[in-house]
Order: sequence, then structure tokens, then C-alpha cells
Amino acid sequence: MTRDEALEAVGEIIGRGGDADDILREVVELLQQGFEHYSWLGIYLVEGDDLVLGPWQGPEATEHVRIPVGQGVCGAAAASGQTEIVDDVNADPRYLACFPSTRSEIVVPIAYEGRIVGEIDIDSDQPGAFGEGDRAFLERVAELIAPHSIVQRGL
Ligand code: SME
Repeated sequence: MTRDEALEAVGEIIGRGGDADDILREVVELLQQGFEHYSWLGIYLVEGDDLVLGPWQGPEATEHVRIPVGQGVCGAAAASGQTEIVDDVNADPRYLACFPSTRSEIVVPIAYEGRIVGEIDIDSDQPGAFGEGDRAFLERVAELIAPHSIVQRGL
């Protein structure tokens, strides 16, 4: 699948409507299955001062289902609002290990109305797997899914 095809497919998923949980789950499946170097892919949603794991796809579950903003590569991206690309996870002291097979990681914040509401986290079993093409593509996906990435409380 090309990135353009994936963006079109994300647009179709969103255009069909449905509830936010279903949209995020379908987008996660599409992305993880569509790209060989996306070994594990999950969406974390901001809840208070924590990132809480939402839908994910990959060979194994992670123990990191709740990460305080500011901790790990995930927490750093949520705190700064900037995409993090880590070419060698074992060389990054911030890295919270999930899977022994992971070599590199990208974390892309999801912003909505000026605040960070979540993020897309991808682990790759290949070193240095993520480049500027992935960054631009995933930042666009984050914009598209942002209105569907807000934790609803008390509704
Ligand atoms: N590696 C992340 C934790 C999440 S797992 O990769 C799924 C981090 O350092 O924040």
C-alpha cells in the first residue's frame, strides 16, 4: 500500500461515520497491516496527566497501558507536542521497553483545538525504520483522526 492510498482509505473510514472507537480501531488495523515496517502500532489517548492505551495491533500486548505524560518516548512527545523518531531505541535513555524485538520507534502527537489529545505510537523491528516520509504521512493521519481521538468523560 502506498501512503497516498492509505490516506485515501483513512478518509473513507472517517467518511463512513460510526463511533470514534470503531474509527480508531479501523485506522490502527489499516496502518499496521499496510506497512511492513510498522511492527506494532497503537493509539494512546490523553486522560488527565496520563496516556492510556486505546486500540492497538501487533504480535503482542504491551504492559505499558498507562504512561504518565513526560515519561518514555511516548510521554516526551505528548509533553512537547512534537513527533519523536528514535532510530535506535536501545541508545535512548527515555525508552520504555515493550518488546525485545523493537529496534526503532516513532511517536506522533494528535492535537485537537490546540491541545494534545493522544498519539500514534509505532514500534519497528527494523533499526532506523522511520524517516521524513513516515513523519509527514503520520502527522496527516493524526490531523484526520484528531476529532475522533478525544476521551469523553461524564457524557
Ligand atoms: N516505547 C514507548 C512505550 C510504549 S511501547 O512502545 C508500546 C516509550 O518509550 O514511551
